[in-house]
Amino acid sequence: MELCQTAAPGAEEGAAAVEAGLSAAGRDADGAVAGAAAPAPVASPPSATYQLLPVSSPRPMGGLITESRVDASFIDERLAAEGHAAPFGPAGVRITDGRTLQVVKEAVGAVRVEVEAALARGVINTPEGNGRSVSAICGNFYAARPVGVIEGEDYGFTGRVRRVEVESIRRRLAAGDLLLVSSLGLSPSGQVFNCQSESVAAATASQLGADKLIYLTPGETVVDVRNGSMVQNLPLSSAVDFLAVHSGRSLETEAGSPGVMPIDDLPYVFRLCLTEAVGALKAGVRRAHLLNRFIDGVLLMEIFHRDGVGFMISRDLYEGIRAARLDDVAGIVEVIRPLEEAGILVPRSRASLEGAIGDFTVVERDGMIIACLSLTIAADEPDAAELGCFAVRPEYRKLGKGDALLGFIERKSYALGVRRLFILSTQSFHWFLERGFEEITVEGVPESKRVKVDLARKSKVYQKKLLGGRAVDEQELLKHL
Ligand SMILES: CC(C)(COP(=O)(O)OP(=O)(O)OC[C@H]1O[C@@H](n2cnc3c(N)ncnc32)[C@H](O)[C@@H]1OP(=O)(O)O)[C@@H](O)C(=O)NCCC(=O)NCCS
Repeated sequence: MELCQTAAPGAEEGAAAVEAGLSAAGRDADGAVAGAAAPAPVASPPSATYQLLPVSSPRPMGGLITESRVDASFIDERLAAEGHAAPFGPAGVRITDGRTLQVVKEAVGAVRVEVEAALARGVINTPEGNGRSVSAICGNFYAARPVGVIEGEDYGFTGRVRRVEVESIRRRLAAGDLLLVSSLGLSPSGQVFNCQSESVAAATASQLGADKLIYLTPGETVVDVRNGSMVQNLPLSSAVDFLAVHSGRSLETEAGSPGVMPIDDLPYVFRLCLTEAVGALKAGVRRAHLLNRFIDGVLLMEIFHRDGVGFMISRDLYEGIRAARLDDVAGIVEVIRPLEEAGILVPRSRASLEGAIGDFTVVERDGMIIACLSLTIAADEPDAAELGCFAVRPEYRKLGKGDALLGFIERKSYALGVRRLFILSTQSFHWFLERGFEEITVEGVPESKRVKVDLARKSKVYQKKLLGGRAVDEQELLKHL
């Protein structure tokens, strides 16, 4: 169920996507595949404290993506050899005249064949492959239109995405095909346009409603200059700030501030991928990853390894989630009272809710409490905590609110030193089983909590062991794949 985009070298590079994700390569690379994770609930450091650090000594990658990579300078060198000018417009986008378009077509064709060849070999060589080859399909999966004349500069055959053929792509993905989408787009009148593949990937991901957008970049890393640590996750809002701080406009006002880098130090590909990723996330894609294409197996490591290896930007999954306040009690009562009456939740008095309000986290929407959850750490076992009063208003169910709230609480718990969560449930245990909880006996409940358990309710007890923050992301991701 994948969609993969190839590209020509130059300003119009390659990309790729899976239905639950999509990725693109940078200015001097092509090819990719794709796949999703989430931010820590703690406040992010200000963007000005992030600084880019290029990875030193990149080593060639032996995997699928490197095999399909074409030297970015191919188009420029070819045109230079012919004495043909190959200018770029003010935004760093290539101006494509007739001859340039011809060279781009050749480059795209070459990359496509290399990607197809690598894909075929990749599956056959695995035990699961059983001699099958991947059905990789190239096609006219989006309509392009000319960029036109900008600031007096005619961009010629440089194009941009006009419309993505979402239904056509979905049909093929449903059939198990892998789609390769090139950076050459066709207009409805049959004209070929040279599009920037990072933009094609982002537009495709956005219009497909992909869970993930993955770019393969030359290997820049973002570090927090306060402690020198690598920044792995950035919430969308921080990524937006980061771009703003490192833009020329911001520099005019912030020049001289510690940690703010000059505009020219933000590498073109990184800026492009980050900008496109931010745009895609704003359009609804859940996560974007920027991965170092020189790391062998980077895609698998990012998606399946607990700690990940790349740089990820996440849409704020936790919008509206906050610690409860005393004036939320009435709203919490509205959410849980019907469930108490139905015997699903243990009844609690208003006074007990007020006394325990510090344990509650709520989801607020337009001033209304639409979900709540309590977390109480066991006094005798500080690494164990009980979840309670977990409820989402009926009209807001099945929208992922429960998932987001649980994900938030798992991160918060881990940060508080909690390593196992448990919950007592009579009717919703499957919901928890599907989210990594497993049944335990009541003896597994810390003594201080066990004495309060109403055995007559015959609730089942479920426990989840918490790993690192990134592992939680991974579980969330896998659930949505
Ligand atoms: C359980 C609950 C908190 C989930 O909240 P939510 O926001 O609807 O959850 P999400 O949107 O993240 O997940 C919805 C999925 O869970 C499933 N689900 C909902 N209730 C379920 C249950 N009792 N058992 C198993 N699956 C359940 C839905 O069918 C849906 O699956 P689908 O997308 O495959 O159709 C919510 O259904 C609720 O408030 N239930 C009543 C209170 C309750 O049982 N609380 C648990 C206390 S022990």
